Amino acid sequence: MPILEVKGLRKSFGGLTAVADVNLEVHEGHIHSIIGPNGAGKSTLFNLISGYYSCDRGQVIFKGKDITDLPPQEITRMGIGRSFQVTNIFSGLTVFENLLAAVLYAKGQGLRLFSNAQKMFREETEEVLSSVGLIDKSGESAGVLAAGDRKRLELGIVLATGPDLLLLDEPTCGMSPVETSDTIDLIRKIAEEKSLTVLFTEHKMNVVFSISSHITVMNFGAIIAAGKPEDIRANQQVQEIYFGKRDDPSSR
Ligand SMILES: Nc1ncnc2c1ncn2[C@@H]1O[C@H](COP(=O)(O)OP(=O)(O)OP(=O)(O)O)[C@@H](O)[C@H]1O
Ligand SMILES: [Mg+2]
Repeated sequence: MPILEVKGLRKSFGGLTAVADVNLEVHEGHIHSIIGPNGAGKSTLFNLISGYYSCDRGQVIFKGKDITDLPPQEITRMGIGRSFQVTNIFSGLTVFENLLAAVLYAKGQGLRLFSNAQKMFREETEEVLSSVGLIDKSGESAGVLAAGDRKRLELGIVLATGPDLLLLDEPTCGMSPVETSDTIDLIRKIAEEKSLTVLFTEHKMNVVFSISSHITVMNFGAIIAAGKPEDIRANQQVQEIYFGKRDDPSSR
């Protein structure tokens, strides 16, 4: 049984169908990427899975349970942790406080408890900080972190919610090649250590092909190919999308 199953999922914005009857299976322990050009519907699909958008029709099944259109916080508590394409860090808080807030959110605790919670959840928060390599920066203001550290903090925020499935929307966006490769190593290591399943979107093809066990390709809201990296690399339709149309002899 797949850990996540998406069946006939559809979402339109006015006349634009952003996600068009998408079917998807993600299996436990896999690192599964969703690729496709800008506007293909990847983030919208993530928003539907994680409950931030309601769908027009279709179903999302997680661990055998129908979670379609449940509120995001409930979906988080059931074990789907997601990061956003645009960072959602509180710049005015320290690295530690950002993670503590995520731990409290996952436990359904209000931020009113912040001062007491600092003591109660310090150990748990510090464990996550260590696993993403930010323990030495826990007292720093999150607003001044470099791009790579911000993404690491975001990953920590998602991990703090105790997920079984990680949804990462462009986890290496804006990173240098070195930061990108460090982040990919970190995601791979954490997924293995914590037995997580990862579903992520990414534009950098070297990242996609180095880390994915499975790849799904979207274009104009629909899935146009799905399979192992070698199948996707060889797929003609995918090549046309990424490398442009083949020469049309009649146009010469
Ligand atoms: N809240 C919204 N209201 C209206 N249109 C939206 C909304 N969210 C997304 N769209 C549209 O839906 C389509 C799919 O967008 P989406 O952000 O899912 O694409 P994407 O594959 O994540 O692209 P990118 O690679 O640039 O992140 C786009 O045409 C976008 O403009
Ligand atoms: Mg997107």
